[in-house]
Amino acid sequence: MKTITKAVFPVAGLGTRFLPATKAIPKEMLPIIDKPLIEYAVEEAVNAGITEIIFITSHTKRAIEDHFDQNFELEEKLIHSGKKDFVKKINRDIFKDIKFTYVRQKTQNGLGDAILHAEHLIQEEPFAIILADDLIINNPSCISQLIETYKEHQCSVIGVNEVPENEIEKYGVISIDKSISINNTFFLKDIVEKPKTNAPSNLAVVGRYVLSSKIFKYLNNLAPSVGGEVQLTDAIKLMLDDEKVVGHMYEGEHFDCGSRHGYVNAIKYLAKDMFNE
Ligand code: G1P
Repeated sequence: MKTITKAVFPVAGLGTRFLPATKAIPKEMLPIIDKPLIEYAVEEAVNAGITEIIFITSHTKRAIEDHFDQNFELEEKLIHSGKKDFVKKINRDIFKDIKFTYVRQKTQNGLGDAILHAEHLIQEEPFAIILADDLIINNPSCISQLIETYKEHQCSVIGVNEVPENEIEKYGVISIDKSISINNTFFLKDIVEKPKTNAPSNLAVVGRYVLSSKIFKYLNNLAPSVGGEVQLTDAIKLMLDDEKVVGHMYEGEHFDCGSRHGYVNAIKYLAKDMFNE
């Protein structure tokens, strides 16, 4: 069985809902207290054993590249002013041996198109996808839970959770065979992107995937659909005809940090622990 060592992070999106805050900085760099949103996601991946991080980025996202690079000037200044503890914060040990790669997505053609930009780096290996907007707090982390499920079932795994009926149209939604469920893991029957009506269930796809590299076969030449974009959901649906895919109902607190409401709730939630409130 192949180990999951690579994770793809699509980060080319515009962050329109946070304008004007995101006029000059990427939405992924917005802080959740003192750490940018993207660092929570990368930390989650690295703690789950990922050693190669592939960002699908765009020309407005250079700050992400800088964030995971060394900043010698700042380090020197911190050392000379006796603030050595901060050096550990900007140059974290856990990221020391991690390989960061950046691929530019020139036009925003959707999540499926973004993932396709990593095909040459993934090649024949199963890999993880993390959507940083979906902040999921738990130990073990959501992606660790999915990797464990992948080891158990040896197939693609999609992170899902129940969402209220009035929110289901914002997500990819799966339909399952409830009779075959083990440890909150279900065999997928179908998957649809953002159903306006007749959602097949209340189980939404929430920003974490472990996929077989076969997904690229279905992503190649896939026609745009919902929102005029190439959807990863459509490729997963096609893959279902040829191989099994499971949905894992993960444990964890989910915050949609792509929305202002979810973003503020994430800060409130983490602040409780940080400041013992
Ligand atoms: C994407 C996916 C969708 C998934 C969602 C999770 O949509 O296309 O299937 O449910 O992420 O956040 P987006 O939120 O990028 O529109």
